[in-house]
Amino acid sequence: MCGIIGYTGDKEAYNILLEGLERLEYRGYDSAGIASIHNNTIQHHKKKGRVANLKLTVLPGKTGIAHTRWATHGKPEDKNAHPFVDETEEFAIVHNGIVENYLELKEELRNSGVFFSSDTDSEVIVHLIAKNYTGNLQEAVLKILPRLIGAYAFCVLKKDSNEIIGARNGSPLIIGLGKKENFLTSDVSAIIEHTHKVIYVNDFELVRITPFSVEVCDFNGTQKPLDIKEVNWNLEQAQKQGYKHFMLKEIYEQQQVFLDSLKVPVKIEKSFSRITIVACGTAYYAGLIGKYVIERIAKIPVNLEIASEFRYKEPLINKDDLVIAISQSGETADTLAAVRLAKQNGARTLGIINVINSTISREVDEVIYTRAGLETGVASTKAFMAQLVILYKLGFFLAGKEIDLTSLTEKITQALSLNEEIKQLAQQYYHYPNFLYIGRNLNYPLALEGALKLKEISYIHAEAYPAGELKHGPISLVSEEIPTIAICLQDSIYEKTLSNIQEIKARNGKVIALATEGDKQIKQIVDDIIYIPKVEEIFYPLIAIIPLPLFAYHVADIKDCDVDKPRNLAKSVTVE
Ligand code: AGP
Repeated sequence: MCGIIGYTGDKEAYNILLEGLERLEYRGYDSAGIASIHNNTIQHHKKKGRVANLKLTVLPGKTGIAHTRWATHGKPEDKNAHPFVDETEEFAIVHNGIVENYLELKEELRNSGVFFSSDTDSEVIVHLIAKNYTGNLQEAVLKILPRLIGAYAFCVLKKDSNEIIGARNGSPLIIGLGKKENFLTSDVSAIIEHTHKVIYVNDFELVRITPFSVEVCDFNGTQKPLDIKEVNWNLEQAQKQGYKHFMLKEIYEQQQVFLDSLKVPVKIEKSFSRITIVACGTAYYAGLIGKYVIERIAKIPVNLEIASEFRYKEPLINKDDLVIAISQSGETADTLAAVRLAKQNGARTLGIINVINSTISREVDEVIYTRAGLETGVASTKAFMAQLVILYKLGFFLAGKEIDLTSLTEKITQALSLNEEIKQLAQQYYHYPNFLYIGRNLNYPLALEGALKLKEISYIHAEAYPAGELKHGPISLVSEEIPTIAICLQDSIYEKTLSNIQEIKARNGKVIALATEGDKQIKQIVDDIIYIPKVEEIFYPLIAIIPLPLFAYHVADIKDCDVDKPRNLAKSVTVE
């Protein structure tokens, strides 16, 4: 959930590290800091808040590490920002992850006379290294790794050396290989301008880089071959290309993502009796739509689980199960843990993942990569579209049926053309403090996703319910003060949902309907309407999922929220 970067080479490290941190800010931005080596001393600077706060202090040195934080242990304050140095300032570390046994280690270190400067878990690592250093930094790190319980990717440097040691267990770590320079980072986008040659570090691997060498070994110190890969996208992809926010750019990219996803081959062995889908957040809602589609088309039972629940409920999973993990980042700790548990129980695992070579993609038995490209906005949009397309293809594949979705492309274009109309609607409704979202059947997961988008980027409270559930309690919330977004498309449950809208109107509730173009009946009943083009009922989610994030986007933008980096959130949640 944090971003780390290290550089050692023939250039000044400072600007390389700072630019890299700016590309890693989507992983967390509670605080930031840099440490570099100059004249055999460690220069370091760290501040609460955004990376930009570091720009006032330029640190000299050609070897350095840097960090942007999403707080887990210890408030977002200067003292809890990384890097951390040991008491003699001989070593400095930056860490992404959680040391779960840090209190025990902190106690032990305190009892041996160590003074701690922060409330964080990460600081224990640098003190452990300092206490175990006997002349070789790599050996000291190998010695302390067995003491750490939890997820981590960290980099450590020593004041009189140009080497950087990194270690990985559960959080992403990537080596960038250059000419007379090498890099370590949480995400390729931080170094893509300097090199396209990378090594994806695996769990339980330690790396050592200098300006002229790169070595990888396991936690026993046994050298491993370098598995060098070529990354084939450039920074341009990561830029906004003229849109005000990454999120808006990515909403519009959904059309291309839809087309690219249609080309993804989706074939799997049908050697399972049941499917369990595990995911979090938006990916979970994609899974709920996947459940509806696979059960309806392929008549195969699908169990859907929130990954953070699944991992602790002792699930009844065995070798006859196919467990599908859906994850944009491929680094979500809960989903990764769910995959590991499924494998421990003998199940076959399939990943529907966006980030190539991410941890989950390398741990599942089979992976289907969604082709959404780099998704930078914390609120997931185009990745959701890509996940849906793969799930539809999977459902039809399992049913032994062909599927041709290309005819929907123009409908998606039509839905995107609603942007201005939706912006006007947002102007009318952005001031409301609460919203309800309702839908039935395939429209219920859409209501959930629409509500999540509004919550996470505009900080407005929004709750989603199956429309039929309102009368079992939530309808007591209905008043003029809480608008309802009702997904009421012309499908097999249209009349039922229309009745729920009538129940809301009878209690003076305002209703914005997401309706099918040409539907005149609903126009007489609701306050506002967003019309989407008519398609075959089962494919509505591929169209309806466009206006809902657009509404949330414009509400958040009108409220001047930080749409791409909403407060308290990070793009990939690599901690529990
Ligand atoms: C989506 O807009 C949220 N940012 C969040 O719910 C996200 O979908 C969830 O954390 C899962 O992430 P993943 O797809 O990378 O596993």
